[in-house]
Amino acid sequence: MRVKNKVVIVTGAGAGIGAATAVRMAEEGAKVVVTDIDEKMAISVASGIGENALGLKLDVSKASEVEEVVSQTVAHFGSLDVLVNNAGFGILGTVVTTEEEDWDRLMDVDLKGVYLCAKYAIPEMIRSGGGSIVNLASTISVVGIPDRAAYVASKGGVAALTRAMALDHANSNIRVNSVAPGVIDSSYYEEMYKKVDDPVAFRKNLEARSPLNKMGEPVDIANMILFLASDESKFATGAMFTIDGGFTAG
Ligand SMILES: NC(=O)c1ccc[n+]([C@@H]2O[C@H](COP(=O)([O-])OP(=O)(O)OC[C@H]3O[C@@H](n4cnc5c(N)ncnc54)[C@H](O)[C@@H]3O)[C@@H](O)[C@H]2O)c1
Repeated sequence: MRVKNKVVIVTGAGAGIGAATAVRMAEEGAKVVVTDIDEKMAISVASGIGENALGLKLDVSKASEVEEVVSQTVAHFGSLDVLVNNAGFGILGTVVTTEEEDWDRLMDVDLKGVYLCAKYAIPEMIRSGGGSIVNLASTISVVGIPDRAAYVASKGGVAALTRAMALDHANSNIRVNSVAPGVIDSSYYEEMYKKVDDPVAFRKNLEARSPLNKMGEPVDIANMILFLASDESKFATGAMFTIDGGFTAG
């Protein structure tokens, strides 16, 4: 019961790391608002959890939807203690091959979404006496990889924004940290497998990024998010926590 009775919003929780996080939070006693741009997936994850979960549609790039979800959370569970800014996606492309509309859409979700959710969540956390925000950065917040220009830029921004938010809100007893996953086996890569010439080689290449020569599982990241949401991490703020099977050790 590491997060007993904490009220948690997880974005992009219809699949992958977000869904695993919602489940782990509930197993450890939290009340979880499972949100996703895909309402059916959010509701399905929430119903799998049971009465301590609420499934809601949320596109993190839309301020009005974010405001509404925060207010429904407080109306349903009484407060807001933890925000997990997990929603995000990646696209292939260099700055030359990335279309402007794809760049804008990615930034709107992966970077602006973090700003919008925090903007509406923080006043409620202040009312609850404090809270914890966990942002999904990436190993590519600190090392470049080829053919992912927009995504690399957005995750660099998430790591920097995490530090800025941690400083701005420490006085309100709000901790802000980021988690940097390496390659995690989730639906994140589905669109990429469809676009590359040789999906089998592409996957082998992803596995080889870890010295352990395998991808991580969503629950590997969910467990770190759980730690950062809980009071076990009460002295941690403004930091990035890497779980990458050793990718950035080399
Ligand atoms: N999988 C990896 O290897 C990896 C590595 C580093 C960082 N990350 C980050 O972790 C986070 C979760 O990734 P994942 O692997 O679980 O991906 P995923 O594709 O399995 O799940 C992402 C979820 O986000 C939702 N989503 C997409 N756009 C949204 C929007 N505008 N508003 C709300 N929800 C939206 C999708 O519907 C999906 O359910 C992302 O921020 C991703 O960038 C993933």
